[in-house]
Amino acid sequence: MSEVHTTNRKLLEWVDEITRLTTPSRVHWCDGSAEEFRALCGQLVAGGSAIQLDEKKRPNCLLFRSHPSDVARVEDRTFICSRTRDEAGPTNNWVDPDAIKKTLTGLYAGCMAGRTMYVIPFSMGPLGSPVAKIGVQLSDSAYAAISMQNMTRMGRRVLDELGDRDFVPCLHSIGAPRAPGEKDVAWPCAPIEKKYIVHFPEERAIWSYGSGYGGNALLGKKCLALRIASVAARDEGWFAEHMLILGVESPTGETTYVAAAFPSACGKTNFAMMIPPARFKGWKIRTVGDDIAWMRVGDDGRLYAINPEAGYFGVAPGTNFKSNPNAMKMVSKDTIFTNVALKKDGDVWWEGMDGEVPEELTDWKGNAWKRGSKEKAAHANSRFTSPMRNNPVLSHVADDPTGVPISAIIFGGRRATTVPLVMQAFNWAHGVFYGATLGSETTAAAIGATGEVRRDPFAMLPFCGYNMGRYFQHWLDMQARIAYPPRIFMVNWFRRDAAGEFLWPGFGENMRVLHWIIDKVHGRKGGQETLFGWVPKAGDLELSGLDISHDRVDEATNINLDEWQVEIESYGPFFEKLGAAMPRELKLIRELLLARIASVKSHRRGN
Ligand code: GTP
Ligand code: SPV
Ligand code: MN
Repeated sequence: MSEVHTTNRKLLEWVDEITRLTTPSRVHWCDGSAEEFRALCGQLVAGGSAIQLDEKKRPNCLLFRSHPSDVARVEDRTFICSRTRDEAGPTNNWVDPDAIKKTLTGLYAGCMAGRTMYVIPFSMGPLGSPVAKIGVQLSDSAYAAISMQNMTRMGRRVLDELGDRDFVPCLHSIGAPRAPGEKDVAWPCAPIEKKYIVHFPEERAIWSYGSGYGGNALLGKKCLALRIASVAARDEGWFAEHMLILGVESPTGETTYVAAAFPSACGKTNFAMMIPPARFKGWKIRTVGDDIAWMRVGDDGRLYAINPEAGYFGVAPGTNFKSNPNAMKMVSKDTIFTNVALKKDGDVWWEGMDGEVPEELTDWKGNAWKRGSKEKAAHANSRFTSPMRNNPVLSHVADDPTGVPISAIIFGGRRATTVPLVMQAFNWAHGVFYGATLGSETTAAAIGATGEVRRDPFAMLPFCGYNMGRYFQHWLDMQARIAYPPRIFMVNWFRRDAAGEFLWPGFGENMRVLHWIIDKVHGRKGGQETLFGWVPKAGDLELSGLDISHDRVDEATNINLDEWQVEIESYGPFFEKLGAAMPRELKLIRELLLARIASVKSHRRGN
């Protein structure tokens, strides 16, 4: 047993209780040191779970290949086990908490046999910040332990900070006990029907079983910092959101902070780290966070955001020196890669990487792969796990315990049609309507069908820890507490032409849209009023130096009344599904918009 550096009664008793229940062969208290990281990496390589990448090309980097059933979040196996079904609401899976505890206790019994149990103390938020929350994850996955070190503030310093205070208990097992002498597999996990990602919102506790991947297993991220934290945020009057946070520095030294909610695999990491095009000389983007924002009202009446994480778990495919040069630099060392392809020279590869496609690779399943193969060499949800200190454009206030004042909130989804490049809400309630009706084509970030438009309100559909209608109400109610509310916008980088090509070049060029947003926030630009929001007037968007026809910009920014009628009508069944908790204000905004569309149409016919 490693050294125990705490006298916290609840923690010691809980570790004891779980050790007796799950019967690991050892218990290891993580200290969070670089030596520990290296030692665990060494064990993972020696045991055949990980491949050490070439030390010159990718120093301090490992490659993992997960089991093909364990490649993304499992939304069907994710449960919000509040005391009542109504509290979880119609968009969450619910099971009675006592019943699921019984089921899971049965599964946890002896589940760590033949494995080490890691005690992983972590802080979501800067250590010592009054808004940080401490969790302790117990896990039989060394992969989870090293990933938590890259993703959070983790280890002995967290126990020092915790002292005798309370913490969020996060129990995790991959669900694959080992009989004595039994040979291990590279990625042990339980079959899909035995995976359970379970949250007890009133107790503020998390029980995860059967998966070792991403949000299912790194419990500080989606489970604590979003599902549990969203409940705490509702109770305490703040926001826990699936949002990136960035700072825009102008050539004159003005910094504007922006938070943006895009659904999973819809460009948060890219936007948070982008490099502005040459036209924007002297402008800088600085990253505060790439996935999660906790936002509170400051004494001055503004909304302040912190990133509770300390690292990025980013989508690999599509990342290259053109789309995201900063990410490419970030992953050049100290990075854990999962389900990407391996090159002959001991480096990694994924679809969309710069340069020629290698002739031969080992794909994410460990099979030989040849150029031209129909199968993808890297899984569509293959990812990198890097500490934020490696981000070349990390904001100097990324560690600030009070956070940054937010001037704009942006919602954006993946929409082939209908939604224009950018528009601004008329007011707070209308902005909440944008968030509540956010739609996006599904991606590989969750297991299931991809490419269909689904409602993903506030990009929180898989992450809201309570009744979605009440979550909307919380957003509406918070207006009264914010003297200087951020302006609210909607963007869409993913609109396509008739041939299916993206109309807007995206990535760094999104700076042009962000520039208009910044100007609007500071009252330097007007805009054109449409039924659905303010949009840039012709000539408002800075397009110089961009090789794109005016027709394509027109198409990307176009608002089509027929499309919008279908769109707004389609919100009806979703609002109905939310039942009695659905705020009346938002239903009325929908009604108003439909009435306005009808009246414009009849006026047009009349002319
Ligand atoms: P999670 O980590 O899953 O929450 O997602 P994220 O929002 O951080 O996703 P990320 O930034 O990793 O998005 C990756 C996907 O979005 C890749 O397929 C990118 O190619 C694509 N993407 C990002 N920005 C743009 C853009 O501006 N235009 C287009 N067309 N694609 C983009
Ligand atoms: C997402 O799916 O939104 C992610 C990746 O950020 S995971 O941590 O797996 O949820
Ligand atoms: Mn995410």
